[in-house]
Amino acid sequence: MADQPLLNTYGRLPIVFDHGRGPWLYDVDGNRYLDTFCGIAVTGLGHAHPAVTRAIQDQAARLVHCSNLFHNTAQRTLAGKLCDISGMDGVFFANSGAEANECALKLARLYGHNRGVHSPAIIVMHRSFHGRTLATLTATGNRRVQAGFEPLVSGFIRAPFNDLDAIAAIARSNPNVVAVLAEPVQGEGGVNVADPAWLQGIREVCDHYGWLMMLDEIQTGNGRTGQHFAYQTYGVTPDVVTLAKGLGNGFPIGACLARGEAARTFQPGHHGSTFGGNPLACTAATAVIETLEQDNLLARARSLSERMRTRLGSAFEGAEYVRDIRGLGLMIGIELASPCAELVPLAKTQGLLLNVTAERVIRLLPPLTLSDQEADMMIDQVIRILRLYAGDDHQPLTPKTP
Ligand SMILES: Cc1ncc(COP(=O)(O)O)c(C=O)c1O
Repeated sequence: MADQPLLNTYGRLPIVFDHGRGPWLYDVDGNRYLDTFCGIAVTGLGHAHPAVTRAIQDQAARLVHCSNLFHNTAQRTLAGKLCDISGMDGVFFANSGAEANECALKLARLYGHNRGVHSPAIIVMHRSFHGRTLATLTATGNRRVQAGFEPLVSGFIRAPFNDLDAIAAIARSNPNVVAVLAEPVQGEGGVNVADPAWLQGIREVCDHYGWLMMLDEIQTGNGRTGQHFAYQTYGVTPDVVTLAKGLGNGFPIGACLARGEAARTFQPGHHGSTFGGNPLACTAATAVIETLEQDNLLARARSLSERMRTRLGSAFEGAEYVRDIRGLGLMIGIELASPCAELVPLAKTQGLLLNVTAERVIRLLPPLTLSDQEADMMIDQVIRILRLYAGDDHQPLTPKTP
């Protein structure tokens, strides 16, 4: 597989997938794997959800592309739905998370210029992740993502996550700040959950100074944390929200939503995308939102979270190798005492697809559509593999897959 004509940007496990269904993925040899992280928080409804498949099939037979020099019904329907569920006033459609964030960053700069700030700055957090374009990797709080790509983009100021004093100090000393960009739960950074007082405090600081509060909900949005958007759990409303990942359940789509003055900032010619708001992508995303609502999946995400975290908590109570179990909704992090990347190939031998982030955090991002039985099976497998890895269980594992 190493001789594939792909640029070498990913360390990949040697599995070739052919198809999926619900929480299961099947390789070309017919082996079945349980997917604990939904292609990194994307397939929240599970693989090949019938409602999304049907929506894509029907739309493909009607209209696949229509330029943004015109309107199209699929885009209008989705924009209306997104505004209804988010409390925002308008949407810009993109094709990925990084692009949605690029849109937010440009919007914040333009908002600043309109207010007479000639060199606008945006506060971003340590350990954040916002994407791989030049502006979004600069906004990202991880040196490894940036190294080799200098010169970085100017106009970013970094603050520690969950530290309101740091933001207040920047506010006092820097008149160029126009916005704050943060994730309500840092995903790549290790499932770090925002303190309610911090997010609410950011809202107050933004109101006081006339800054935009911008939340990157690319990983936390679309039902993953038990509400459509994590900010709804915190009782704060941002000015700008970015979405992608779970929005299309695997069909590529990103969105930057804005309200109030932020929503009035762009004028024709300021931003654009040939494929953004593509009818196929919009129809898929509309089917996702309708399914979340019709199948009551926001409440289901909360109850599954409770069930899975309780089981994990009792299994690892007092275990020294587990430092913390934390999260919000179906974003669950198990932080270990030491780096644990080797867990990933070990889990593979048991037919379990596991993700490790920030070196020592097992990140579970399961589908919102899991049955109780599937949820218990997933957690029991995670527990068994982690115990064995930590030397807490000496029953050897019998390989289930090559
Ligand atoms: C919070 C957050 N923002 C932005 C991105 C970038 O999204 P994409 O890979 O679709 O560009 C990610 C991807 O992991 C993310 O988790």
